[in-house]
Amino acid sequence: MNFESIRDEFPALREKTFLDAACVSIAPRSAVAAVQEFLERALTCPEPSATRNHIAMDELRAAARPLAAQLINAREDEVALVESTSQGLAIAAQAVPLAAGDRVLVAAPEFMEVAIPWCQLRDREGIELAVVPHRDGKLFVDEFAALMTDRTRLVVVSSVQWSHGYRIDLNALSALCRARGVWLVVDAIQQLGAVPIDVQATPIDLLACGGHKWLNAPFGCGFLYIRRDRMQDLRPPMAGYLAVETPEGGWGNYFQTPSIQPVRDYHYVEGARRYEAGGTANYPGAIGLAASLRMFLEAGQERIAEHVWTLGEKLMTGLDRLGISVSTPRERAERAGIVTFSLGSPEQNAAIVEHLLARRILVSLRYTAGIGGVRVACHLFNNDSDIGRLLEAAGEFQRGAARSSAPRP
Ligand SMILES: Cc1ncc(COP(=O)(O)O)c(C=O)c1O
Repeated sequence: MNFESIRDEFPALREKTFLDAACVSIAPRSAVAAVQEFLERALTCPEPSATRNHIAMDELRAAARPLAAQLINAREDEVALVESTSQGLAIAAQAVPLAAGDRVLVAAPEFMEVAIPWCQLRDREGIELAVVPHRDGKLFVDEFAALMTDRTRLVVVSSVQWSHGYRIDLNALSALCRARGVWLVVDAIQQLGAVPIDVQATPIDLLACGGHKWLNAPFGCGFLYIRRDRMQDLRPPMAGYLAVETPEGGWGNYFQTPSIQPVRDYHYVEGARRYEAGGTANYPGAIGLAASLRMFLEAGQERIAEHVWTLGEKLMTGLDRLGISVSTPRERAERAGIVTFSLGSPEQNAAIVEHLLARRILVSLRYTAGIGGVRVACHLFNNDSDIGRLLEAAGEFQRGAARSSAPRP
């Protein structure tokens, strides 16, 4: 699959220059077709019984787990399907055993959701939150180390920062956390799909990733990775019936057995599936996610990363030529697909975003802790022409701004 033919999978690109996978991305035809096929099943119940239809739906959903595992080089039983990054992070916050006075580290430029679960644990249970400062938008492992006390139990971090795309050195952070016996929880939603993460090479305890940004899944499904050798130390959430081990003869048979009783000793599934809510689930979401994941795995994550990096380089070079300042770090190891630029003031940034949107060039305006600006997301479906159109429109905006600020004769 080459990158030009991938564009055919995204009909939205015929009408717009879509440079905003970091927000809610567009879905490929294959994912939408898979969901439509599922909806047909919902419409017609093609199986001989509704019970069989339910079981078939569960199997279609389950296909997303091994694909998500493959994406990050994990085992299938280390992956739970969740609704979103937020749900994955909330599960992580409740599962890691923390007591009053335990310290959690969170970085200053994070998206709010990275902090919210632990802010609630601070308010309800008295854990302590320490905020790791950034230096010029970058996060350094020595700053994390400096805030680690003997009560520090957990670090939560986005592998790529949402507002300006800084990518942290996960290897170094992972080594620090392991050396100190500290849990490492990673929010990977702004990275996976653009730049791979290998959880064998880089040990992470829990990793949450929604599907709707860089994984181009149509809606409502992502995954939570839980490292197998840490599971015994976690407190799993309340299980639902689908997290109960499948009885001998299968569920269909079980429900037809007159003697079954609801109150009994239950055995729950082993592995990350134990962390799923365990009822009739978001089937279309998981089916769409599975189809999108297939596209990424077929295209090859390293090839995509190369393509994304090349587009980022072109964009940065073009912005340099226009004299526009870039807040995303230049080094390849320190960024993924986001390139954020600023014209100097929030008002000018808002004005150029309006100018771009009016020309159907889709980007976003994003800030936290004083970092950010006009966020551009370069993804596998983007090409040189997309970057060219953005740069041309930015130059046009600058010329217009220069004319309107020139003294009138
Ligand atoms: C770093 C980060 N984490 C989490 C989220 C929220 O993701 P979800 O909607 O999957 O919970 C966002 C959305 O912008 C984000 O940028």
